Amino acid sequence: MPNTVLIGSQWGDEGKGKIIDVLTRRVDWVVRYQGGNNAGHTVEVGDEKYVLHLIPSGMLHEGRKCVIGNGVVIDPSALKQELDELIARGIRPDDRLFISDRAHLVFPYHRALDGAGEKNRAEGGKIGTTGRGIGPAYVDKASRSGLRMGDLFEADFEDRLRARIRESNTLLSALGAETLNEDEVVQSSLAAAETLKPYVADTVVLVNEAIGRGESVLFEGAQGTMLDIDFGTYPFVTSSSATAGGACTGAGVPPNCIDQVVGVIKAYTTRVGEGPFPTELHDADGQKLRDIGHEYGATTGRPRRCGWFDGVVARYAAMLSGINSWAMMKLDVLDAFETVRIATAYELDGRRIETVPASASALARCKPIYEEWPGWMQSTAQAKSWEDLPEKAQRYLRRLEELTGARIGLLSVGPKRASTILMESDG
Ligand code: GDP
Ligand code: IMO
Ligand code: MG
Repeated sequence: MPNTVLIGSQWGDEGKGKIIDVLTRRVDWVVRYQGGNNAGHTVEVGDEKYVLHLIPSGMLHEGRKCVIGNGVVIDPSALKQELDELIARGIRPDDRLFISDRAHLVFPYHRALDGAGEKNRAEGGKIGTTGRGIGPAYVDKASRSGLRMGDLFEADFEDRLRARIRESNTLLSALGAETLNEDEVVQSSLAAAETLKPYVADTVVLVNEAIGRGESVLFEGAQGTMLDIDFGTYPFVTSSSATAGGACTGAGVPPNCIDQVVGVIKAYTTRVGEGPFPTELHDADGQKLRDIGHEYGATTGRPRRCGWFDGVVARYAAMLSGINSWAMMKLDVLDAFETVRIATAYELDGRRIETVPASASALARCKPIYEEWPGWMQSTAQAKSWEDLPEKAQRYLRRLEELTGARIGLLSVGPKRASTILMESDG
């Protein structure tokens, strides 16, 4: 397969983990390039279910090389735990997991600051973060006070960590939050970090050399377009670049090595956390989507907010990332709806608009303009090809392609690998 960037096209949880796993057999490398353990990527293999947070979803395929890139922020304790769990389930990461020496580290003080920050935000201003310390870790990166994976090998690492803990404690006190015990943080962090040392490498060189040899790379995005720090519903976003551009800076590869972009998108929409969501349903249909789609967070267990497919968001995602094809997910969840709706535009303050406004308050005032389509009222879960789909489902999907300007390359009708329809052979 050509070098491919795979991104979330909505507000995360589109089913990226499943598609990465499906596509991994066609590539040599899978590279995560942004976010941290705020992500929860579910992969179902047979009767086994894995939820990956920091480890690339390609890990379940033996022999595939996996990289945690420089753009990812890594909580050493969380990564150690994830690795231990995988090893206990028989997955061997040795010799094929590489962690960038340039990736920033997340420590308990980042988590504490994340919690304190949320607590101190006024009602209506809360982001509903995952509480994993992601925002504060990227703050440290941007303010040039962060510690990186490669720093673990330097003699002054502990001193620098202690200084950061003391500074963070000052900040935590000022925010009215509990301070952390310096020695405890140092001990637990160092113990976890020590076990990760064997995996640390200059992944920029590794990945670029692999590309030079003609090996193929799948870049695994986390979160989604509408959570992107620049293009999402700011400030109700995460702290990294979740659009395709993030793959270059987050993995250290040039734009001209990327051959295609796959946008993962659900046949409806969900969001977890706070912030505007124009097609959100507060009625029985919303609850039905949540129940049938099992829409509860893979990381925090929070119920996901559910709504109809938003064509405005999808078009925006396609434009921002140059999406060549969609991996259209969870079509089966719509099987029992008599009518399905698609937002084609918004009404904002009495005007019709067809793009996503920059301001979150403006987006919160947007009312979706819907098209109604007849539901197919028939199971699609067993479908193995396009021809197996009910005609009404085909019409719905064709309309989504038309509205978004990108074709559907993969169609998913269930969580397992086998419930994936390849719409055309693209290598
Ligand atoms: P990610 O964060 O984008 O990897 O997505 P999550 O793993 O957080 O959430 C997607 C959920 O949908 C997981 O529980 C998947 O097992 C499940 N899933 C993926 N594809 C399908 C599908 O086509 N149909 C159904 N019913 N579930 C799916
Ligand atoms: P995956 O990769 C869905 C959301 C949080 C919150 C906002 C900021 O599984 O799709 P953060 O902890 O990042 O500072 O929280 O972003 N969020 C996600 N929502 N899927 C994710 O990841 C998410 N990662 C963060 O709920 O609204
Ligand atoms: Mg998820």
